[in-house]
Order: sequence, then C-alpha cells, then structure tokens
Amino acid sequence: MWSPREYAAEIAENFRAYNEEFGRITRRAALNFLAEDWAAGQRDAVARIELYEERVTRCVGSLGEELRSEQDNLPLWIEIKRAYETLVARRADSDFYRTFFNSVTRDLFGTVGVNPAVEFCATSVGRASGAVPIRVHRVGTSLLGAVREVLADLPFGAAIGDADLAARRVSAEIGRHFESGVRGAPESIELIEPVFYRGMQAYVVGRLIGDGTITPLVIAFGNSPQGVRVDAVMLSRAEVGSLFGYARSYFHVDLPVVSAAITLLRSFMPRKPIDELYTVLGRAKQGKTERYFALQRHLTTSIDSFVHAPGERGLVMIVFTLPSHDLVFKVIRDHFGAPKTSTRADVMERYQFVFRHDRAGRLVDAQEFKRLRLPRARFMPGLAEELLRDASESSRIEGEDLIVEHCYIERRLRPLNLFLREADPAAAEAAIIDYGAALRDLAASNVFPGDLLLKNFGVTSHGRVIFYDYDELCLLTECVFRDLPQPRFEEEETSAEPWFHYGPRDVFPEQWLQFLGIPSGLLEVFLKAHAELFTASWWRAQVAKIIEAPASPTSSAPNSSAAASSAAASSAAASSVAASVAVTSA
Ligand SMILES: Nc1ncnc2c1ncn2[C@@H]1O[C@H](COP(=O)(O)OP(=O)(O)OP(=O)(O)O)[C@@H](O)[C@H]1O
Ligand SMILES: [Mg+2]
Repeated sequence: MWSPREYAAEIAENFRAYNEEFGRITRRAALNFLAEDWAAGQRDAVARIELYEERVTRCVGSLGEELRSEQDNLPLWIEIKRAYETLVARRADSDFYRTFFNSVTRDLFGTVGVNPAVEFCATSVGRASGAVPIRVHRVGTSLLGAVREVLADLPFGAAIGDADLAARRVSAEIGRHFESGVRGAPESIELIEPVFYRGMQAYVVGRLIGDGTITPLVIAFGNSPQGVRVDAVMLSRAEVGSLFGYARSYFHVDLPVVSAAITLLRSFMPRKPIDELYTVLGRAKQGKTERYFALQRHLTTSIDSFVHAPGERGLVMIVFTLPSHDLVFKVIRDHFGAPKTSTRADVMERYQFVFRHDRAGRLVDAQEFKRLRLPRARFMPGLAEELLRDASESSRIEGEDLIVEHCYIERRLRPLNLFLREADPAAAEAAIIDYGAALRDLAASNVFPGDLLLKNFGVTSHGRVIFYDYDELCLLTECVFRDLPQPRFEEEETSAEPWFHYGPRDVFPEQWLQFLGIPSGLLEVFLKAHAELFTASWWRAQVAKIIEAPASPTSSAPNSSAAASSAAASSAAASSVAASVAVTSA
C-alpha cells in the first residue's frame, strides 16, 4: 500500500494531467476561429465538458482496489487530505485541485451531504495567487491611435479584413460612450491578454479607465472569407454581464490563473456571482462547488424556508426555492401526469443535452447535484411532504435533514406569465417582443423548445427572456413543420377530433397562437414583431438554413426517439403547444 503522500501525489497528478488537457483543448479555439471551423469548435466544447468526469473516473481507477476498500479508514483519509493540501497549497488555482479531490472522494464514498474529513469545505477566493496577463494601452491624445494599437496587437490582428474600418468603428463607439457621460475620454485601455472564444466569435475583454471610473469593454469579432471583422463593441455593464451570463455556453480562454481573472472581471461586474464566472470560464465543477458553498453560507445567515417556486406547478418537476436566495431546485417527480409520455431518463437526457449544446444566451444553465443535504426544518411542511411523496426516488429523510438525491439547481427567473401580469406596460411589451426573439435565437442554434407556453420562460433582472423547461426540448431539424390542412367538408371543420393524419414529429405553428395565452393587450405588438413565427414556412426556412450551413450544430442530438415524442406525441396536451397538432379549432 502507498503512503498518504503517495496517494495525495497520485490524485494531484491526475488533476494536473486533466488541467493540461483542458488547456490544450482551450487553446485550439484560436485556430478554430481562424479556420472558421465551427464544427471543430463544437466538438472541442463538448470534449472539454466531458473531460472532467472522464478524469475523475480514471483517477478513482488508478487509486486501486486497496484504497477503495479503505473507505472506513478515516485516519488514513485525514492523512491523505493533509498531505494533499501541503502539496497543492501553492499551486496556481489551488482550489481547482481541492475540488478535484472532493470529486474523487465523493465518487469513492458516495458521500451524502459533505464529509469534512475527506472533503475541502471552504473556498479561498480572494486569496488568489498570481495575476492576469494584462495589456495596458495609454490613450494620450488619440483614441483612434490607441485602438489601432489594440487591434494590431491581437493574435489575429493581421487577419482583420479592413483594419482601418475596424479601428474607426471601435474608437467611434468608445468616443460616443464617453461623450454621452461627462467623463471626456478614457485615459487607458486595459485588456486581458488571452482572447475569449465561444461559438464562432472571439472576444477581447477588458476595461477603460478614466476619471476614476471603470467602464467594461468587450470587442466581439467574427470571421469570414473576407477576413476578421468587428461584430460589436460592448460598453455597458448590462450587455457585458449578459455575455458572461448563465444562459451562455462556456468561453474557451487560456488563463494562467482563473481566480485572478475573476477578481479582475468583478471590478466591472461586481454583482456577478463568483460561481457563475467560474462556470462561464469553463470551470463548471469549480462553479458548482462555489455555488454550493454560497448556498451553505447563505443558509447559516438566513431564516426563511424553502417554498414552491412562484408560478404554475410542473408536471415533471417539483420546483422549490428559498425566497432570500435567487436559485431554484428542480426535482424530478416519480410519475408525470398526462399528457407527458417521457421517462425520468429522457428528462435527464434533455438536461444533459442542454449542458453540452450551444445555449445561445436563451437556455438557463442547470447544474446537476447529487446527495444534497438540506435542513428539513427549513422546508415548508407541504413542500417537504410533496417531495417525499411525489419525488420519493429523489428525496428522503435522514435524521434532521432532507436528502435530495438528485436535483438541478439553476438561477431563479421571473416566470414570463407572471412577469407580464405585474410589469408596467413598456416592460411587458419589451418582454413579449424578447420572447419572440428568444424563439428565433433558439431556432438559429437548432433548438426547438417543445413547450412554448409563457410559463416555461423566465425574465432576467435585465429583462431578457430565457427558456428553462427542457423535458420536451429537441433539435429543430428533428421537427416537421407543417401547414394546417384546410378542412374540405363541414364535418371536418366542426370535428372535435383531429380529422387529418399527423406524425409524431409534426408541428403546426398556425395553431400556437390560440394556446399561448399572450395577454390581449400585448398581442398586437407581438404580431407586429413576430407574426411569421406562426407560419410553418418560417420554421422550415430555419431548418433549411441549418441543414445548408457547412458545419451546422446538428451533431450532439439528444436521443432522437425521445425527441420525436417531444414534438407532438403528447398530443392531447392543451398544456403543450408543440402538441397543438392534435387540437382543431377549440
Ligand atoms: N429557473 C426558474 N426560475 C423561476 N421559476 C422556475 C424556474 N424553473 C422552473 N420554474 C417554475 O417552476 C415551474 C415548473 O418548472 P418546469 O417548467 O421546468 O417544470 P415541468 O414539470 O417540466 O413543467 P411542464 O409541466 O410545463 O412540463 C415553472 O412553470 C416555473 O413557474
Ligand atoms: Mg413547465
């Protein structure tokens, strides 16, 4: 048998190897961007997400049978943990090493809740060692000159199609932003040296310093046969916050010390939770750990109870929240009411799919938690009873605690159906228009939400509409968007049953309007912006675009038989708009 130090070294070495591979995949993003290789970028994004579990499993394997049978040998584990801490304490992002240790021991022991003897239970954020590589450009007398310098310094500077046009655009937008305030021009432009990549875009991220204020600056670039071009210049905290938001896929950015970068990013996104920043930088496990620590800290400093999340009850999920903390917990029910036909495994597969797919800024990132220990006394009685009765596969009582065997945790949004009732007219109009925009963005990323009802979308604090109900979600390319056949006889017209034949993947957009329940006062603005969404031809055109695109993101499909059932099979569903296929004029 090895010594505790040798075990510790083995675990640390496994993480180091993981991290090296993570870096290799991350760095390929620069090449994919220059080669316009979307498909390779997608593959890398998925490979990088899957790498963590792979490496934890490999590490558990490499520890050998001997150690695995030492589960009860707590003194040994305390020694290993101590040796590990000594070994990793001075390494960059040492918290990542600690989280990896926790992942390995949780896997070995099937730990319920947290076992401090074999897990690290605190985070050292704020004690970040190391720095972010930053490039500072003094503005001096010419903003345009400084921007030219910024662009020329970029790793793809030489590939910019029209460098002069790009510099003028960026400098004009910065100039306008500063003139609109009373701050004159910025004194310096400070940029994080590594470029952020995601999808087919590259982002230069940093801040403008001037007159004692910090303004975020993000320049988004796209690439095409005409060369690299500037797509957008973002200067508002809201816009930059959304770019780093929980409805986005993860960046590929090669940061030597991630915690240091987070400290810098928080200088202009002070309200962004640390966990979400780790996650969006690709460190999803660290993000999950931080989210868990933040929840535990919050529980000790609050007294309110877990309650049902506001809004309509789900048929698939029991959703609860702590009013003072902006997260929701989603627990899968044992049985789904009609018309749902999917199984627990199908639902989990959809959530897995979203984890890997391009989230397009419109799908909330849900983290899967296992064996969560929560104080039972903090649950409203009705909620605890419902969980134990209707989600018995996922929850049980152990002593004073309610153990949630499995749940998804995600940010709490205001359900759109509630938001429209409460908001002032202008905000409600903006939200219903953004709901249409969300459907379009999802369609462009090859996602069909399946259940388009307003209750399945939420509104962020910035008024952005995001989808969160994934059990009927499928690829757009798996749906068949059909025009509604015209009735030929009176019997057909008045029939309460569908009189025409339809397949399990058929979707009839013309029928949606009557089920969506868009408040009548908002219908006109919605139709003005989005009437075409109620035509099958618009959806077919989107499908055609995806299929024609040289490297469309169609590859990472969820189980297609499950997806098929999603499009329409639950056909009697008045609750399911995708299923509106079976319903004739009501
Ligand atoms: N992220 C969230 N933020 C706020 N509320 C949420 C969130 N996710 C879910 N909810 C609330 O919980 C309800 C049920 O959640 P969800 O739609 O995900 O479950 P479901 O069982 O799949 O629903 P359905 O019966 O529509 O298929 C939602 O209608 C909404 O009111
Ligand atoms: Mg729902």
